[in-house]
Parts: sequence; structure tokens; C-alpha cells
Amino acid sequence: MEIVSSPQDMQALAMQWRAAGLKTALAPTMGYFHQGHLSLMEYGRTISDKLVVSLFVNPAQFGPSEDLARYPRDLDRDAALARQVGVDVLYTPGVEDMYPPGYQTYVEVGGLSKGLCGASRPGHFRGVATIVLKLFNQALPHAAIFGEKDYQQLVVIRRMTRDLNLPIDIVGRPIYREADGLAMSSRNTYLSPEERSSALCLFRAIRAARELVASGARSRESILEAVRQIIRSTPLTDIDYTALVHPETLEGVDAISGEARLALAVRVGKTRLIDNTLLSETQLCCV
Ligand code: PAJ
Repeated sequence: MEIVSSPQDMQALAMQWRAAGLKTALAPTMGYFHQGHLSLMEYGRTISDKLVVSLFVNPAQFGPSEDLARYPRDLDRDAALARQVGVDVLYTPGVEDMYPPGYQTYVEVGGLSKGLCGASRPGHFRGVATIVLKLFNQALPHAAIFGEKDYQQLVVIRRMTRDLNLPIDIVGRPIYREADGLAMSSRNTYLSPEERSSALCLFRAIRAARELVASGARSRESILEAVRQIIRSTPLTDIDYTALVHPETLEGVDAISGEARLALAVRVGKTRLIDNTLLSETQLCCV
């Protein structure tokens, strides 16, 4: 595995691969790999000749009071894990490579960026869309792989790709969970043992919602009330949002007809966790 850290070198390599007719897949990350990240890489391996994983903690997607400075980092460990999975290039640009002095161009994906996480994290998706477009232009991938864990991010990137006519296949992959159901996240490392057990309320809420739908519930209020009840009765938690939305427009729906996405953001202690699931009228069982 090669570690590449300059945008020029990344782009030159990507151009050579293109000229040789090779298919490239890119999995963008902010590092501190867990099995969720590795599952994206493993999938990327199966659809490409060359697999690039980018590792860049992107200042532009963090708000002023967010956790940029203490975001967990461990390049040696990440490089060892990426090597094991068969990544060809670990791309690790610096902040000054991505945002040199005088930088002033940003990508804004309109309405989709406004609700859910966009409402509590103003500017977040502008930062995400901007860095992802830059990474696309540097790694020149045929396919890019994202996790459904960050569902709104996936929808925003799909929209940007369509709107800007990018010739890239955007692949969404399922949420990878701990054995007890907690969605894997680099931010789980912030949780104290008490918070870690409270954090399970997100998955318990998701499971309850799926059970309700399987037994015939359809209305937003019946589902969200049950979800909120579970979270509110869990210590150390504070709801940021609970929402039932259309899977593509992300607009709120009053009832499930066909499919909807249940999306949750909950503060557990000081750590903000997100999770989501598909709720479908044809769903028969839970989890
Ligand atoms: P990061 O949080 O490091 O996540 C990188 C990718 O891993 C994202 O596509 C995310 O959805 C996916 N992922 C995270 N946890 C997952 C899980 N439990 N199961 C499956 N996939 C999971 O998301 C970002 O970085 C950044 O916003 C980025 C896209 C790199 C832009 O800076």
C-alpha cells in the first residue's frame, strides 16, 4: 500500500490508472477506522482495480464549538488496518493542501442540507460537499462508497453528483453495528461506560419503530412518540431530533406509505450520536 499526501501526486496517479483502463473506487473517511469504515473498504475492493481511501479530518465541516481539535486520530493504526484490507492508496492530504491561503470556493447543496443534521450543524454539509468534490477531483474515481450511517450525507452527495454531472457511481452501504446494536462511530470513543450503555437507546428506539411498523403502525406520531419515550427514559440523553422522512427528498412524512427513513440524533453526555433505519410497509420482522 502506498501513502500519498499531495493532491498533485494523487491526481497524477489517478490519471495513470485511467490511462491504463483501470477502475478506481474511493472511500472518503476522517480516519480512526472501525469495522464500519473497513466494511466500505472491503466492498470497494470487490468493485475496483484500484482502491483509494482518503483520510482527512475536514475543518470545513466542523462548527466553531464542535470537536475538531479532539477528533480521534491514529495514522499508524489506520495505515495498518487499511493495508490488511488491501487498500492500494491511503490518501492523507494536509489542511494546507486542501485549503491553501486564499481558498474561497464552496459547494452548497440546497434544500437537502437544511433539515435534520443541517439544522443543528449549520454549514456542515457545505463543508462535506466541498471536500468530497475536491476528493473526487483528486482521486478521479469511477465509484465512491459511503455508509448509510450518515444517511443525509449520502443523499446530499448523490444529489451533488447528479446536479454537477459527475461521472461517478455513488454506492451506499449498510450501517455496521456493534454486537449489541450500537452503530459504529469514531465518536463512540468519547463515551464513558455509563454513556456507552445509554447510547444503546438509539438502537432500542429503532428496533421498537420497526416492530411497530411490522405490527401495522403507519402514522408519524405513533412511531415518533414511541421512539421519544424510549430515549427520554434513558439517563444522560438529550434529543436533538427524531424525524420520519421521505428517503430521497428528506422531507417529513405524516405516515409511512411505501418506504420512509427514521432518523435520530441524540446527545449522550456531550457526544452527539446519529442513527437511522429504513421503515417499510412490507417489512415483516425486526432488526
Ligand atoms: P467518517 O465519519 O470518517 O465516515 C467515513 C465513511 O464511513 C462515511 O461514508 C460514513 O457514512 C461511513 N461510516 C461511518 N460509520 C459507519 C458504520 N457504522 N457503518 C457503515 N458505514 C459507516 O463521513 C465522513 O467521515 C466525512 O463526512 C467525509 C465523507 C469523509 C467527508 O469529510
